[in-house]
Amino acid sequence: MNRHLKHPVFKIISEIIKTQNIQAFVIGGFVRDLILKRASNDIDIVVVGSGIDLANRVAGKIDKNVKVTVFKNFGTAMLRYKNYEIEFVGARKESYNRDSRKPVVENGSLEDDQNRRDFTVNALALSLNKETYGNLLDPFNGLDDIKKKIIRTPLNPDITFSDDPLRMIRAVRFAAQLNFNIAKEALSAIKKNKDRIKIVSKERINEELHKIVLSPKPSIGFKLLEETGLLEIVFPELHNLKGVELRNGIKHKDNFYHTLNVVDNIGKKTDNLWLRWAAILHDIGKPTSKRFDEVHGWTFHGHEFVGYKMLPDIFRRLKFPMNEKMKYVQKLILLHMRPIVLSQEDITDSAIRRLLFEAGNDIDDLMLLCDADITSKNPDRVKHFLKNFQVVRIKLKEIEEKDKIRNWQPPISGNEIIQIFNIKPSKIVGAIKDAIKDAILDGLIENNHDDAYQFMIRKGEELGLKPSTRVDKHTNNK
Ligand code: CTP
Repeated sequence: MNRHLKHPVFKIISEIIKTQNIQAFVIGGFVRDLILKRASNDIDIVVVGSGIDLANRVAGKIDKNVKVTVFKNFGTAMLRYKNYEIEFVGARKESYNRDSRKPVVENGSLEDDQNRRDFTVNALALSLNKETYGNLLDPFNGLDDIKKKIIRTPLNPDITFSDDPLRMIRAVRFAAQLNFNIAKEALSAIKKNKDRIKIVSKERINEELHKIVLSPKPSIGFKLLEETGLLEIVFPELHNLKGVELRNGIKHKDNFYHTLNVVDNIGKKTDNLWLRWAAILHDIGKPTSKRFDEVHGWTFHGHEFVGYKMLPDIFRRLKFPMNEKMKYVQKLILLHMRPIVLSQEDITDSAIRRLLFEAGNDIDDLMLLCDADITSKNPDRVKHFLKNFQVVRIKLKEIEEKDKIRNWQPPISGNEIIQIFNIKPSKIVGAIKDAIKDAILDGLIENNHDDAYQFMIRKGEELGLKPSTRVDKHTNNK
């Protein structure tokens, strides 16, 4: 492993610990990722002694301007150097009580420190000590588990997961990120301890969920969450998508597995976290809107609207951001059926303009979601749908070039309407603005100030308003 410890900071640490007569090791994710040849910029150094003291000495040696951030309560210190975030921590022994994830901590040996870690693949350490520099310390055969692609706990999994229940979702996350299997005993222990996930903060759970969503094949993680019973606890709405009902010999598709196909599909095209979440949540309204119709069989009419309405409560409960990210996901859910409907009908320019208006700059993301939503196993059907979407895309491009609807701004502002008709700000101003917008989207008038002005005068007259003669027809005070 010697040759892997190329980073100059390792040599510096090695020199310092020699003079101080203490021991230090690189440990955890950095070592795991080094073996897996995955890029990692987070280095954890475990010191049999004071981590804070070593961090200060290392910083002093590198450059006086390197800032050390000390977390006194945790006995850790962190410094940034050449794109790396290096954390120093004293080796420790931990014991937990049942109601908390916060352990009682004492100083310990390297072995104690390895014992307290979540998985064998995360308990690997590399020596930075002069005589053994680069040697791998692997008391739980983590290297073997990396080769066998297995997530296993160093100790009895019941203890590891009960001590810190977040590790149950971490196990799933590593399985998804690395395409590993969770060892049988660990999987049973997760099923047994699943309810303890309730003592973990939503924020910590979310961090892991986001990593699952961003993994190369998110379905691996979501299938494991479902299989272990964790999904029903942390995300019941997704769990509720599962299942197939049969009536009069007619089945509907399993919306959980369909959803997983959609997110795997979109994962091949984008690393946009919230677009991937939109894929996961696009059919979230289906269980509520499911009906059986004697003529048409199973229907999910309006599921996109139901899903759109469900989203704020879901985001609030999960402590997901209640900001433009939520609005973005909501918009994609609401609109995800529109291109499909368009592709099945003779597409009118006005329908295209309305879609462009509502999707705005997210139109390309919406089309990616729609492509990903095609999960038919029949290659001819897939080809047929993709071809139809291609027609929709061409039409979107044509209309956008002509009418510039994507970032549409009203050609006539509310203020201008107020001045022209010499009226007070009121509902009628909004009504005229809406009428102008509809006339443009429906293609009755062109998207420019002159046409909109003429239309506004006519509309005002219909509503009993007279333009004030003092205002020049071409005033454009938007
Ligand atoms: N760890 C643990 N139990 C936890 C969290 C972390 O035992 N609940 C240990 C693991 O040994 C892990 C190390 O602390 O390797 C660092 O944790 P973290 O930075 O969260 O994970 P990494 O393994 O570094 O992976 P990533 O950077 O992908 O999050």
